[in-house]
Amino acid sequence: MLDFHSHLIPGVDDGSRNVAMSVAMLDMWREQGFDYICATPHFYADVNTPSRFLEKRFLAYGELMDELNKAPGGAKAYPGIFLGAEVHYFRGLSSCEDINKLCLQGTNLLLVEMPFHSWSDYMIREINELSSLGIVPVAAHIERYLSIQTESKLNDLLDTGILIQCNAEFFLTFGTRRKALRMLKEGRIQFLGSDAHNLTSRAPNLGDAIKLIEKKLGSDALSDIRDNEDNIIEARRIYFERGGVA
Ligand SMILES: [Fe+2]
Repeated sequence: MLDFHSHLIPGVDDGSRNVAMSVAMLDMWREQGFDYICATPHFYADVNTPSRFLEKRFLAYGELMDELNKAPGGAKAYPGIFLGAEVHYFRGLSSCEDINKLCLQGTNLLLVEMPFHSWSDYMIREINELSSLGIVPVAAHIERYLSIQTESKLNDLLDTGILIQCNAEFFLTFGTRRKALRMLKEGRIQFLGSDAHNLTSRAPNLGDAIKLIEKKLGSDALSDIRDNEDNIIEARRIYFERGGVA
């Protein structure tokens, strides 16, 4: 199992505060049976450049790996970490040099956090233009926008070919559960994530959502999502085989 969206890397955003917290979060994922976690720290273009972001992420990831390697069984005893970013939409996204470097390691998938105000046609055009760069955008936690965007704007976004990620919370919240299960059943969700930030208020909780999905719809309901996860795992394996760096 793979968690597509998390703030696991210590000290780089409003997620895990330090290495000890990241290790404890990984313990929670491990107990829930996860094999891989995508670490997707926030990227805000007004405070970072891609290269500065990548450098900070690399250093913090290194500190975490050093700690994991000291544990019994070493880092291999923990879920594998795939490095990525959660890129908050900014004007100029599609023409930003190095934007491709923020894709999930070894893939052309770019997790994009759309703004929480209404989307302009210009924003939709920029998302559309990402595909001409060979990038496949993935909309982070689409459920958060369902009540604030018009149906036609949501459709405009989907028409760009953007893929959809939903948070565990969408399934675990009683008021939205039915809608979440329906969207999954209809094949409208490609990736699931916990969007975990810490050990308490926003802890890794995707295991609970998966249990619920399997109970309500059966495990076959997750087969397309599992296929998408397998593709990511394979792409990353090839990336490292070809000498890719963390
Ligand atoms: Fe997030």
